[in-house]
Amino acid sequence: MLPSFTHSNTLRLQLRPLVMQEARELLQVVQTSRETLGQYMSWPREMTDLDHARRFVKMGREQWMAARTVRLGIFERETGLLVGNVELDAVDPRRRQAELGYWVRADRTGRGYAGEAARAMLWYAFETLRMHKVRADVAVGNVASARVLDKLGFVREGTLREDRLIGNDFVDHWRFGLLAREFH
Ligand SMILES: CC(C)(COP(=O)(O)OP(=O)(O)OC[C@H]1O[C@@H](n2cnc3c(N)ncnc32)[C@H](O)[C@@H]1OP(=O)(O)O)[C@@H](O)C(=O)NCCC(=O)NCCS
Repeated sequence: MLPSFTHSNTLRLQLRPLVMQEARELLQVVQTSRETLGQYMSWPREMTDLDHARRFVKMGREQWMAARTVRLGIFERETGLLVGNVELDAVDPRRRQAELGYWVRADRTGRGYAGEAARAMLWYAFETLRMHKVRADVAVGNVASARVLDKLGFVREGTLREDRLIGNDFVDHWRFGLLAREFH
């Protein structure tokens, strides 16, 4: 099991794993943001019922136990609302590398939430897990996400050709990377 997450409270957000009772709220958030989320990620198109949302929550817990993924809900501290998700996936202790991912519900974008949540996750990755490098893959054209990474100090390292299936198309992805010594 991965160590517990120690940066749960940021200025405006609380980051913590979802509990099963929150699967319904997750489904609602994904339903209302499906168009924007589904543009650059495949799974929101598939999350259409409560069972799927429950599996998403369950899988997050299992993967944490398996020391593979840290998946956290992003909650707005002021309202308690679930506003998104941030995760560190494919944690590889030998290579000391992991992959960052995030999304924010459509009616809460443009407030810096993704960057704030990602920064807390990067502290955990570098300080707690002692990762050497964190990577992030962004669909070519997803300028908002690329900007989030730019602001965190990530470097664009190249383009992965037709790397992930989104809908019916294999989509090119920009590979971004951040080294531990570059993070501050
Ligand atoms: C990408 C996403 C996570 C950004 O979340 P967010 O909380 O709005 O991000 P932030 O507010 O921290 O930063 C967004 C930055 O992108 C910029 N931006 C947003 N839309 C943009 C666009 N169309 N063109 C250029 N820049 C854009 C914003 O201006 C901001 O930069 P700034 O602070 O310099 O003004 C959110 O839009 C989202 O969930 N998108 C769908 C899912 C997704 O793409 N996830 C990432 C997969 S790699």
